[in-house]
Amino acid sequence: MENQLTIANQPQFHRLKIAKKRQLTKNAFALELEIPEELKSKYQYMAGQFVTLKYHFNEKEIQNDYSFTSAPFEDKTELAIKINGEKSSTNFLFQNYHIGNEISVSEPLGRFFIPSKPNEKRTIIAFAAGIGITPIISHIKNILFEEKSTRIFLFYGNKSYEDIILKDELELLLKDNVGRLEVYYFLSQEPVKDKLFQGRLDEKKISLIINQILHLDEDDEESTIWDSTDKVLICGPGTMIKSVANACYNHGIPKKNIHFELFETFNDDIYPTEKEFPLIENVNVKIKFNHIEKDGIVLKNNERKILQQLLDMGYKLPYSCKSGICGSCLCYLKNGEVDMTEDEYLTEKEKLQGKILPCVSIAMSKDVYLDFDLY
Ligand code: FES
Repeated sequence: MENQLTIANQPQFHRLKIAKKRQLTKNAFALELEIPEELKSKYQYMAGQFVTLKYHFNEKEIQNDYSFTSAPFEDKTELAIKINGEKSSTNFLFQNYHIGNEISVSEPLGRFFIPSKPNEKRTIIAFAAGIGITPIISHIKNILFEEKSTRIFLFYGNKSYEDIILKDELELLLKDNVGRLEVYYFLSQEPVKDKLFQGRLDEKKISLIINQILHLDEDDEESTIWDSTDKVLICGPGTMIKSVANACYNHGIPKKNIHFELFETFNDDIYPTEKEFPLIENVNVKIKFNHIEKDGIVLKNNERKILQQLLDMGYKLPYSCKSGICGSCLCYLKNGEVDMTEDEYLTEKEKLQGKILPCVSIAMSKDVYLDFDLY
């Protein structure tokens, strides 16, 4: 995901050496980073987190986010990267950065993590598409390591068999965790004998998975595997996340137990907005960004999210996902009222501090003041 962060929300970067590099599929590779002793505390991460790599390509500074494929207990820090075509910045990275080279790497970021519950016996269901496997495999390894009684079911979609990223690792995990891990592959552009496994992971497919794979529970005759699901983890493109998250929600999983990570700008709400908002016309907005205040901005009305309206007017504000998932647009609401259509990202403490995500905020007052200078 190309990150649009600007100075105010910049994370801390350090130069790190590439310790290992390996090709995973024809369109994906992994980089293992060497963390020097003095930076070890800064690079402690949680399963599901990512770092931003910063480098120059075509005279432009590129910042892309990549999730860890390694788990915190492993003695390595590895990322996987999808090559987005021959002329892409990711192909440049693949062609030009080798073992021993240094690259600027942010400290770990992101909130796609769940607390470990070592004493519980949980059922966790994961859905991944393509490169979306990266944070998911980190979660899987971490859960299998930390929660000895928890079982995981992974449903993983790819175009073809050849495109399955980290297949060897998944097969190894399967072999070592019989009875605790199950992995099902779905192919969208290659014929599969059993039609259940043909096609994309979407709402229809989730219903079939629930009814045909997650039904009988050998551990509990009174329940189904789906009914005993504690957490759902999803990572992939925005349309896939929206489809899968809504299917899970519509099949009874509370939103607070559905966690997702997005690798692209999505521009849409994950869950349909259930509320109707009273119309406010000519909303006066003041913003502060990089210590510069800008007053007198007028939004036509509050029918669209505040951030998108400001971006359309040419204001260069920080954003990435535009869906309330990544936190890049985090700012203080210094004056006025907003209603957030998604607020899964913010902690209670941040809400009390007056922080909001303008990418999912509807103005609910005539005047709104947003301060993007968090530090
Ligand atoms: S841009 Fe990602 S949370 Fe607002």
